Amino acid sequence: MTENNVSKEIENAYEYLQEKLAGRVKPVIGLVLGSGLGDFAKNIKDALVIPYNDIPDFPTSSVEGHKGCFVFGRIGDVPVVCMQGRVHYYEGYSMQKVVMPVRLMCRMGIEKLILTNAAGGIRDDLKPGDLMVVTDHITSFVPSPLIGPNYEAGPRFPDMSRVYSPDIIADIKKAAFDLGIEVKTGIYLQTTGPNYETPAEIRVYKLLGADAIGMSTTVEAMAAVHAGVKVACISCITNKAAGLSETKLSHEEVQQAADMIKNKFTRLLLKTINLL
Ligand code: HPA
Repeated sequence: MTENNVSKEIENAYEYLQEKLAGRVKPVIGLVLGSGLGDFAKNIKDALVIPYNDIPDFPTSSVEGHKGCFVFGRIGDVPVVCMQGRVHYYEGYSMQKVVMPVRLMCRMGIEKLILTNAAGGIRDDLKPGDLMVVTDHITSFVPSPLIGPNYEAGPRFPDMSRVYSPDIIADIKKAAFDLGIEVKTGIYLQTTGPNYETPAEIRVYKLLGADAIGMSTTVEAMAAVHAGVKVACISCITNKAAGLSETKLSHEEVQQAADMIKNKFTRLLLKTINLL
């Protein structure tokens, strides 16, 4: 895909949304809700829902547990845009297409982006039901979304030494403390999926320093950092990674576990947005 195509697609989608959003306040916070976490969007006031299907050139999500729409509105006084469901590389989209929704939110002028996902716990203490604030990531096993002619929102060779904003991480920790919710921190590693990993792969990833694993997120974080937007990520640990428990991994198990964490996750996210 050429530079012109990337920017042209984003501009077309941007213009479509601008028309739909006429008269509404521009969102300042963007949220991406991962597998089984889409219900958080119920907390958005004055909600305007725009299905991805309606947006020109937009990738649509085919995954169970991912609704596939933008929800615009407010949380408290804060104007937000929320992605109820994301698209994944394993659905067959190019990485440029996978990050198009995030680039579009950046184009709309968000200042901060909070990513969320369901993840498998690799580190011994990370168990189903835990929340992990991502402090850094390993993205070396998937193609960079920045490959191709440079999208003009950012530089050709962006620095990735601090992908996850220490300020937002501090706000999440403060929100967790105020609510009496335990949060852990750790390194997230992205794979392509759609298959779960083998136990041998998990042992390798552990040696490399990964604490949790999933099939999304790092590429979105990179696209946002490239565009100059501050990023944070909360992972909901839905299972022990392959080989670390007796259970066979399945999407149903992940969704059920996400369902159980939903309440705690929602309270944490609402409180955090209040502090940002
Ligand atoms: N591996 C990859 N992706 C995941 C996992 C996992 O164990 N759990 C939730 N998403």
